[in-house]
Amino acid sequence: MDKIKSLTGMLDLYDDGDKTNLAAKLFYLEKKIRDIFLGYKLNEIRTPILEDTNLFIRSVGGASDIVNKEIYSFNDRNDKGIALRPEGTASVIRAIIEKKLDQTNHKLWYMGPMWRYERPQKGRYRQFNQAGVEILGIPEGMPEFEMISIVCSIISEFKLQNCTIKINHLGTQKNKESFCNALVKFLEPFKESLDEKDLQRLKKNPLRVLDTKNNETQNILREAPSIKEFIDSSAINLLNSIQNNFSDICNIEIDYSLVRGLDYYSGFVFEAVSSELGAQDSFLGGGRYDQLCVKLGGKDLPSIGMAIGLERFAELIELKDNLVKLVSFLSVTGNLEPKAYKIAHQLRSLNEDIILDVHLSDSSLKAKLRKANKNNADYAIIIGDEELKNNTAVIKPLKNELEEQLTVSIDDLYSFFKSI
Ligand code: HAM
Repeated sequence: MDKIKSLTGMLDLYDDGDKTNLAAKLFYLEKKIRDIFLGYKLNEIRTPILEDTNLFIRSVGGASDIVNKEIYSFNDRNDKGIALRPEGTASVIRAIIEKKLDQTNHKLWYMGPMWRYERPQKGRYRQFNQAGVEILGIPEGMPEFEMISIVCSIISEFKLQNCTIKINHLGTQKNKESFCNALVKFLEPFKESLDEKDLQRLKKNPLRVLDTKNNETQNILREAPSIKEFIDSSAINLLNSIQNNFSDICNIEIDYSLVRGLDYYSGFVFEAVSSELGAQDSFLGGGRYDQLCVKLGGKDLPSIGMAIGLERFAELIELKDNLVKLVSFLSVTGNLEPKAYKIAHQLRSLNEDIILDVHLSDSSLKAKLRKANKNNADYAIIIGDEELKNNTAVIKPLKNELEEQLTVSIDDLYSFFKSI
């Protein structure tokens, strides 16, 4: 019979078998990033992965690549347009409006899978995970600092090298529009030289031309007007102030050509890029989106946010050796004598920092020890018929050659377990 395969761009991750170790890295990242978020007193928000398709048309934008060609959408049994979320911000604002919480401030975080029908390549998938932060209800100023502080904390926590936080300011909605018009006027005479993709961008979403990968367009753009000429001095001051205040912690660069792929941004925007990532070098991005809440039918709620692409971030980190100790529990008394299992159960409650791997199969001691070594265990605890009879256990150090193997009473085993 034909085998059914996974869908293009959607990964199966398995901690033990996947060579990139992506499942283990994602787990580690999610845990650490969650702790950082909690350290900023952010509150978790979980929204459904399915939404009304119109939510994304109205927020991310009908002209954006995401809505235009990347959205996973279908009609449900009631003929209602449903979309798998391509990002988290729109859902967060929808939820806040629905709960009538759009008149107060919020500091929120979320994590979870997103879907975009993109051409898969290294660092670009059709299902990927984001960890996001949204600070709602506070106008430009301190939230920008908090956002960059969170980004710097994450970069520092994982000791990332070779990365830069690029920042820019798109001005007010009006500044953005004036700049857009100037850019269109500038590019008009060069239309013949633009490729199909850039021509489409010029027609539908001119700012995105600044994101072009085409060398010829990049050359043309060297002479193009810059957003710097259209924004107020307060915007430029904010960029300088952020750069001055954080440049001793992270590498921050003002990049007046930085634009974002989603329509809802105005004001401060940013992206973190790493030279270690190849073509998809942006592992995190965000910015201010003060008009989004009103656009979705809510109150005026000035807001800023960002999301980290966890798969891309995972490529930048090395998993350290187990920080916690791993102990393999090897019972060789037939198929795991219940009395031996009970000892393992008691051990777990004595030291939460230890991972206790009970080998459940009926294999030989030799095979179990081989597996314990392969798993990089620190100790093996061995209980066979003899030990069960005498109420003892064997503690076998697997990493430290200077430590001796010991036979101890079960009480001493408990004390040992507490002490490691
Ligand atoms: P975004 O720039 O579209 O922003 O996505 C954020 C991050 O998600 C990117 O920097 C990238 O690391 C990752 N990412 C995006 N697409 C893919 C893909 N196909 N495969 C793997 N990783 C991907 C947003 O989504 C905004 N909602 C961020 C935000 C929150 N702005 C304000 N609040």
